[in-house]
Amino acid sequence: MDKLLKRTDYCGTLRKEDIGKKVVVNGWVAKNRRLGGLIFADIRDRSGIVQVVFGEGTPADVIEKAEALRSEFSVGVVGTVRERESKNNDIPTGYIEILAEDLSVYSKSETPPIYIKDDDNAAGELRLKYRYLDLRKPIMQETLAFRSKMYHVIRDFYYENGFIEVETPVLAKPTPEGARDYLVPSRVNPGMFYALPQSPQQFKQLLMIGGFDRYFQIAKCYRDEDLRADRQPEFTQIDLEMSYVDQDDVIDVQERFLQRLFKEMKGIDLKLPLPRMSWDEAMNRYGSDKPDLRFGFELVDLANVASGSEFGVFNDALNNGGRVMGININGGSEKFSRKDIDKMTEAIKAFKAKGMVWIRKEEAEIKSSVSKFFDQAALDKICNKMDAKVGDLILIVADKKEVVWASLGFLRRDIASKLELLNPNEYKLLWVVDFPMFEWSDEEGRYMAMHHPFTSPKKEHIKYLESGELDKIYADAYDIVINGYEAGGGSIRIHDSELQNRIFEVLRLTPEEIKTRFGFFIDAFKYGAPPHGGLAFGLDRLCMLLVGTDDIRQVIAFPKNQNAQCVMSEAPTIVNQKDLDILSVAINIKE
Ligand code: AMO
Repeated sequence: MDKLLKRTDYCGTLRKEDIGKKVVVNGWVAKNRRLGGLIFADIRDRSGIVQVVFGEGTPADVIEKAEALRSEFSVGVVGTVRERESKNNDIPTGYIEILAEDLSVYSKSETPPIYIKDDDNAAGELRLKYRYLDLRKPIMQETLAFRSKMYHVIRDFYYENGFIEVETPVLAKPTPEGARDYLVPSRVNPGMFYALPQSPQQFKQLLMIGGFDRYFQIAKCYRDEDLRADRQPEFTQIDLEMSYVDQDDVIDVQERFLQRLFKEMKGIDLKLPLPRMSWDEAMNRYGSDKPDLRFGFELVDLANVASGSEFGVFNDALNNGGRVMGININGGSEKFSRKDIDKMTEAIKAFKAKGMVWIRKEEAEIKSSVSKFFDQAALDKICNKMDAKVGDLILIVADKKEVVWASLGFLRRDIASKLELLNPNEYKLLWVVDFPMFEWSDEEGRYMAMHHPFTSPKKEHIKYLESGELDKIYADAYDIVINGYEAGGGSIRIHDSELQNRIFEVLRLTPEEIKTRFGFFIDAFKYGAPPHGGLAFGLDRLCMLLVGTDDIRQVIAFPKNQNAQCVMSEAPTIVNQKDLDILSVAINIKE
């Protein structure tokens, strides 16, 4: 290796004021070319790019070495900053260049399989396979530096507000957070497994019982669930818990944190208090518990105007306790063809919708897929209810309320995206509060905790536990929603062991299961548990929203692909029999 040159400056920081200065830069060759007797090389490091020129006084042996430079060689350059002949206004260092005196080639590079450029359009998998090269791109450098600054702001805020940072175990016991656990076999306890934590939920509650009063942690969490653009199998939470608080206290601290974060990271002033909306209202107006408030298309209940026709679909839905609801896509009639509408109808089958009705309000008449059943006067009534103007497109779904919400909730966001109404630089934050405590799971054939089973039911609803009217029980749970994403969620916790036990019973855990899975936890509540509550933000999601991308992998250095694989290191991987034997584990792959 050529000798190590000690850096004086980062490439991207050199300016007009540095003219005449002798500098040393280290980096990679971004581009090289010959022009007449001169060799030009753009050198890149994490701060940016600077042009280096070899010639006009550069020693002959250095020029010879420079001739052999290729893209992505790792190099160091000694030289003097001078004014550039042809300025480049597109880059911050475009006024100057370095006239080289010496060059060290630390290591050569094969032709890189991806271009190290922000607008490189290599397929996602290739970028992930050569992630270390992908990370050299300015956008990745900026994004991860941005994320690093977030850690700083987070720690500053929580330290200043009296929170104590505590690390909780990664080798833990299975947690009931809703997703599947990643299990780790224990060599010294044959046949037994740890679970990687889906969140530090139980530990942070035990820290409250342990007297820490205010805890926070930047915590790695692991969930074996189906992946989406905003989900990774391992992700990071800003996790916190507070003693002697009610919902307003938690929300107050956390929205002040968000205010600080938005100010320091984006220069945006958030007005506090942030708006709050009940879960019921969010579902009925937006069909989603994480409504995107950057655009309208609100759901409208059409029960009054949709009944009384010959149209069986509407009548059946209403007679069976379901809903008939619509959204009005203002000015949408021209923008969406019959074929587009067919595609939408197909898409909402994923939410179990059996069909969709459309109405187009035109100048001369109102057209509709159900004009056989509704005359112009009846259609006009629906249009009035939907506040429709000429040129509007109304989409209606009739079904069980969950199906109607999910379908229209999906359509409103999908259509907004198609109409390019989703401005990533506009931020709409809100708290969704008053979640139902339980939700029925057809798959499990039982009620499940909507947040998690440690969430406190509202005091005035505890009586419904005895009467078995579980649908009437709402919880002291809250989510922070940003532009249609759940950026965080939390709750006030149960701090009474009897009530906690009762909730486990409602969730159909047997006394045996309660004891083996949560015995230690319930026991802890027998020794003076303070009232407490907390919340966890998805750090990756917050970062993703703040940098304005909708792909969570952009803000994670080494993310997994859709199949939960690291395509670079090829994890997960097969292990040899000897290692399995040591762990007393046998493989049993089903077809
Ligand atoms: P919850 O399960 O809502 O609550 O998680 C909190 C936040 O973590 C983020 N998140 C994820 N981000 C990326 N990939 C994932 N797979 C993923 N799953 C969740 C979301 C979410 O809002 N223990 C409770 C918190 C509490 O009650 O204090 C919990 O984990 O942004």
